Formats: sequence, structure tokens, C-alpha cells
Amino acid sequence: MIGVFDSGIGGLTLLKALMQTLPNESFLYYADSKNVPYSYKTDEEIKGFVEEAVVFLREEGCKAIVIACNTATNVAIEYLRAKYDFPIVAIQPAVKLAFDNNADNKRILACATPVTLRSVRFNKLLDTLDISHLVDKLPLPGLVEFAEKEIFEGAEVLNYLKEEFSNFDLEKYHYIVLGCTHFTYFEKFISENFPTLIPLDGNEGTARHLKNILIKENLIESEENPDLKFIESGKYVDQPERFLRYIRKVYLG
Ligand code: SIN
Repeated sequence: MIGVFDSGIGGLTLLKALMQTLPNESFLYYADSKNVPYSYKTDEEIKGFVEEAVVFLREEGCKAIVIACNTATNVAIEYLRAKYDFPIVAIQPAVKLAFDNNADNKRILACATPVTLRSVRFNKLLDTLDISHLVDKLPLPGLVEFAEKEIFEGAEVLNYLKEEFSNFDLEKYHYIVLGCTHFTYFEKFISENFPTLIPLDGNEGTARHLKNILIKENLIESEENPDLKFIESGKYVDQPERFLRYIRKVYLG
């Protein structure tokens, strides 16, 4: 079984890619709904939440754990890998994907939570990739809150995005990096309302990366009837139908 961890429901967008890439593996998805959103928490608090979740998933029997949350990855992944010796896979940064495909050297709008955008890990990556200073950073924590309230479109979201984009000349941008798994829920809405922007997330890359790690570690399984389970830490714990609504959204758009 593979554990998939997110602060909330954002990681379900990654789970879809994981299940498509590894159709014979069982998954246990854990949402830390007691503490979501992580956007405004301190690094120390986030490290504590993530470690608790990782230990829990391991105790539940997960052979590998995917951190399906960019904020948690950027703050805690090095700490966790230094402490635990089972595979802990990080969500892949879509900013790398943007550079790999940016032959025209257009500007890139990197959107994530404030924690991710100020993290050492993310900024080290930018220092390596963004030699020509093409990236502008834009925190969009409001999208996490909309997604957790199951608001994926409409005037409220549009006004929020227009306001946040108002300082940027969007004609100059090619890619908008969705540097938070919650943002993937708004991919279609962004494309429809801001047609010059091409949204990119790290989900497919992460799924391929996980598969390669499982092959390398000899951990690939071929279960005939793989299982899928969901657990939450907080206020939605008695509302399993919530997951089903999000899953419908992830699969049906
Ligand atoms: C959040 O909990 O604020 C979102 C975390 C993330 O996916 O980056």
C-alpha cells in the first residue's frame, strides 16, 4: 500500500495520476483536515503535522509515502528523509516543467502558498533554473480556501484571481505554475478566463517518479483488487461522502 498525504483535498488531484500510472497498487489517502490550510502556519508547525502523518501512514503499513502537498514538501521533505529510511516521495515542482518547455523564454508566473514561495527549497530551485530572471512569484492562498469549501468557479473566484493578477501584464506570460495541489482544481477555470496562460502542475511527473522509485527499490506490486482508503484528521472525519464529491470533481472536471 502507498500512503498519500496532503493538508486537505488538494492531493486527490495527484492521486488520480498515481492510480493511472500504478493501477495495481493500493492507496491510503490521508488529509490533515484538522490543520488545513497550512498556508499561514509556521515551518515548525508544518514539520510537526507532516511527521505525525508520515508516522501514522507507516504504522498503517504503507511501504512508501507521497507528500502530495507542495507546502509540506518544501518545508519538511529533507528533514523527513534524513530521519526515516523508507521511500518518501516529494511532489515534483512544476516550475522545472515550465523551464523544460519554455523555448521562447517567456515569463513564468509561479503560484503557490506563501510558505512554499518563501521556502529555502523552492528558492534554491529557482536560483538554479531561473538564470534569466523570467519567474514572478504570486501567492494564492485564497485558492486553497475556496477548494476546501468546494468552490471551484464563479464570480468570487474570478474576482479573487483578477485582483491577484492585476499587477501583472498577462500577455507577457506563457505558463502559470500551479505550485500547490489544491490549485489543480482551478486549471480549467484559469484556462477559460485567462486564455493566454497555460497552467502546469507536477502531478504526472510525480507519478512517473514514484513508479521509478518503486521499481528501483523492488517494491512494485501487482494486486488484482487494489484497495483505496481515505482517512481525515479533523472536522470532516465523519463525512466520507466529502471525498466522493471531490473525487467526482477530479475525475469529471
Ligand atoms: C495549504 O494547506 O495551505 C495548501 C498546501 C499545499 O498544497 O501547498
